[in-house]
Amino acid sequence: MVSQALHKAREYEEIYEKNIGEQERPDFHLSPRVGWMNDPNGFSFHDGKYHLFYQYYPYDSHWGPMHWGHAVSGDLLHWEYLPAAMAPDEAYDKDGCFSGSAVTLPDGRQLLMYTGVVRETQEDGRVSEVQRQCVAVGDGVNYEKYAGNPVLTEADLPKGSSRIDFRDPKIWRGNDGVYYAVAGNRPADGSGQILLFESADGFHWKFDKVLCTNRCRYGRMWECPDFFALDGKQLLLVSPQDMLPQGFEYHNGNGTVCIIGSYDEAEKDFVEEHNQAIDYGIDFYAPQTLLAPDGRRIMIGWLQNWDTCNPSTVQTPWFGQMSLPRELSVKNGRLYQKPVRELEGMRRNEVRYRDVTFTDTLQLSGIEGRRIDMELEIRPVDEGNVYQKFALRFAQNANYHTAVSFRPQESVLKIDRKFSGSRRAVIHQRRSLVRHQNGRLRLRLILDRFSAELFVNDGEQVLSAAIHTEQDAAGISFFTNGLVNMDVVKYDLA
Ligand code: FRU
Repeated sequence: MVSQALHKAREYEEIYEKNIGEQERPDFHLSPRVGWMNDPNGFSFHDGKYHLFYQYYPYDSHWGPMHWGHAVSGDLLHWEYLPAAMAPDEAYDKDGCFSGSAVTLPDGRQLLMYTGVVRETQEDGRVSEVQRQCVAVGDGVNYEKYAGNPVLTEADLPKGSSRIDFRDPKIWRGNDGVYYAVAGNRPADGSGQILLFESADGFHWKFDKVLCTNRCRYGRMWECPDFFALDGKQLLLVSPQDMLPQGFEYHNGNGTVCIIGSYDEAEKDFVEEHNQAIDYGIDFYAPQTLLAPDGRRIMIGWLQNWDTCNPSTVQTPWFGQMSLPRELSVKNGRLYQKPVRELEGMRRNEVRYRDVTFTDTLQLSGIEGRRIDMELEIRPVDEGNVYQKFALRFAQNANYHTAVSFRPQESVLKIDRKFSGSRRAVIHQRRSLVRHQNGRLRLRLILDRFSAELFVNDGEQVLSAAIHTEQDAAGISFFTNGLVNMDVVKYDLA
């Protein structure tokens, strides 16, 4: 049965998506059908297709009572909208269906696990949200919320845990056939902890143990956890709120952390070994992964961040987009990310230059465009006299450009989208330390209409940024202070 609230959302999106022209949205990054989008939810492969749900408020391009939007794809790049999957329409989720995940049940149905939010008056008289975990089950288009919801409540939490911050369950089915879920929560120290739950059937859940505690190291509350094995290691992805900066690794505000460690499945013991940022750019948050049928672990994130979410004084019919789906691997104890290989199938019109030596500024015929995949390899001409600075400008015309610059002496790579169409006084630059051999660096830049994603050293680091630059700003130029030798290959993406 489709509730009135869901029916209304479905009717609305069908009518108002027509106001958004194809050219007015990203091409191969998913944007909301209409209105607002934040976190990816329920990213999964089900019934022969990739499914991607998202935090969704159709009626405005600002955050509001959360619905789940829904899209499917065969290649992770071309998405087809399906009707909104859930609306906040039950007593236990009346103030929002917050983030969650999806799994396929043995009988072929798809199970969604999400956070039901209700504003309740607390003992001290204050009104605040209480968050509980819920499930819904369906055929890939329509979902029925479970009559036994909520399936995890404050009664299931270990002592000292917050009933207010308890959200974003990520579900998976273990090799033992048992369903597991991790969720974010706040323990008594006010920072974050990741709780592990288990269930025999996906509907009846119990608390297992505290898998990892923040102990006030990386921000406060940890949102949107994901937990999986990869390349002989165990990875925990979290999105902390309220971070303080740590060197060039972590920046202020909402960030992303990947903890790499080992996991003893029998004891359910996660031992941390190393941690790092997931994305070093400006706009990336709340990533979630799926395991593809061919064994790839693929991650997608919200290509936006909470503190930079007010891009324009003008009302736009949509706001928020997803990142490129990225293939993950672990090498030398670090997380590597590459655009999904399906992207190579969109490459057209190769333009290639080898061994270009230049100083000062350079433009290369055919190297331009706003939906492109471009790879660069730069090196000093004289190993004993390395250039001072290399810069790449793109989405460029007389008024606009977005810049990436690299100073080998400091090993600092910077992305700067100050001249990218924003009219807001928010963060427009971010710097990252990168590895290079005496000024040798590999970069791969993927541009869609409203985004730039820069992959450094074959995916050792990624810097992502949303840009709002008008589309006819399509120029690309290179700059160096000193002598640089460079290989460039560029493809249009279509
Ligand atoms: C992360 C988040 C989640 C929550 C959702 C609400 O961006 O705050 O923790 O479930 O957004 O829309």
